[in-house]
Amino acid sequence: MKLILLGAPGAGKGTVAKILTAIDGSVQISTGDILRGAVQAGTELGKEAKSYMNRGDLVPDSLIMGIMEKRLQEDDCKKGFLLDGFPRTILQAEELKVLLAKLDITLDMAVNIDVPRDVILDRLCTRRTCENSKCQAIYNVKSNPPKQEGICDKCGSAAIQREDETEEAILHRLQTYNDKTAPLIGFYEKEGLVKTVSGTSSDIVVLELKEALGF
Ligand code: AP5
Ligand code: MG
Repeated sequence: MKLILLGAPGAGKGTVAKILTAIDGSVQISTGDILRGAVQAGTELGKEAKSYMNRGDLVPDSLIMGIMEKRLQEDDCKKGFLLDGFPRTILQAEELKVLLAKLDITLDMAVNIDVPRDVILDRLCTRRTCENSKCQAIYNVKSNPPKQEGICDKCGSAAIQREDETEEAILHRLQTYNDKTAPLIGFYEKEGLVKTVSGTSSDIVVLELKEALGF
């Protein structure tokens, strides 16, 4: 499958992507995970991205497009991909359109995961993420806690709150989403690609997508 996952911070893009990869071997490509990995590794990209991310601002489009142009041409994308957190601005969406045409790739769908704001705020305050950049498993102290508090079930690293999970940064990320990313729903509606699903249950999101995609 070749999907774009749209949705506010905390809508469950990462959670749903991780379930979908198991269906047909499509890869999850999360620009947030890539950037957090770069911050942890202390690369030039990480140094440049860190302050934008911690404030809850978007990283400049040019940095993201450079990453994605390379990533989409890697071999593991041939089976399909789930774009989690990309594109995030109209400019990124326009440039992705040109890139996909150049690579002769057709998208199946842009999935809009819709979750009420109060649920989102609660989820983001209670999320825990594995700090190992190669793992980045997602937990929630209420709905999906790790077996041992604070420890990732998968790799044994610490499961922590992300640096952009302060109240100030969360509110700023939600505002940034409304201003810059929500307009992509209209962009992909014009392309005839949008499917809106209610994201209060990830299992139902996955069922609806499997049905729509014929799995
Ligand atoms: P990114 O990492 O993409 O963060 P985000 O979009 O803010 O989204 P989140 O990862 O917070 O939420 P999610 O939808 O993945 O939800 P999750 O599955 O974890 O980006 C971070 C930053 O990087 C940006 O602010 C920006 O600076 C930069 N960046 C990234 N991409 C960029 C781009 N393209 N351009 C420019 N800058 C970019 O779920 C949330 C919680 O809810 C978890 O605890 C989970 O367990 C729980 N949960 C999920 N589903 C359910 C459910 N059904 N029931 C109960 N709990 C649930
Ligand atoms: Mg995520």
